[in-house]
Amino acid sequence: MTRPQPPSQPGDAVPRLEHHTLKRYESIWFGIAVVISLFLFVSVIVSFISGTYSAIGGGGGHHITGVTNGRLDPRNIAATPFAKPGLRENADGTLEAFVVAKAFAFDPPVLRVPAGRPVTIHVTSLDVMHGYEVEGTNINASVIPGQVASFTTTFGRPGSHGTICNEYCGTGHHNMLGRVVVEAPTPQAARPAGE
Ligand code: CUA
Repeated sequence: MTRPQPPSQPGDAVPRLEHHTLKRYESIWFGIAVVISLFLFVSVIVSFISGTYSAIGGGGGHHITGVTNGRLDPRNIAATPFAKPGLRENADGTLEAFVVAKAFAFDPPVLRVPAGRPVTIHVTSLDVMHGYEVEGTNINASVIPGQVASFTTTFGRPGSHGTICNEYCGTGHHNMLGRVVVEAPTPQAARPAGE
């Protein structure tokens, strides 16, 4: 359908966008969008394959002393493993880490875990709502007093990940930082076969 064009004025300095010009712009933007989409798609796959990105696996269903259905009494923390925060190895060889968030720090401030072994991290808060995000992973949870956030992950390679509180929790919120240090598995840490 063609509409009658208004007659061009002598002082009409603004050039009209011609149909073919629009089409070229659209092609360029569409091309950029495709390149970005492909880049993101490929980089996520490469990241998973190379092990730089630690994905949360299924956890839970595991019994923790003093914790029922992911809930605990913050006043009774002494009766739970959170009384002694940090990494522990269970009798069956599984690794569990207990992290306590409180204004304005994580305990332990530096959590050391071995590379290449699944670790289940449990986090709870002693006071107000905090956040627990481990940079470079998809661990990112709200930490609510009275509740336990649990996730199982395997850190693929040695390195250091910052942990940050990403829920505003008070005047020291911006200082609430910690670290997960992933260490190369030592020969002593390897369990003898047949155990
Ligand atoms: Cu703890 Cu913000």
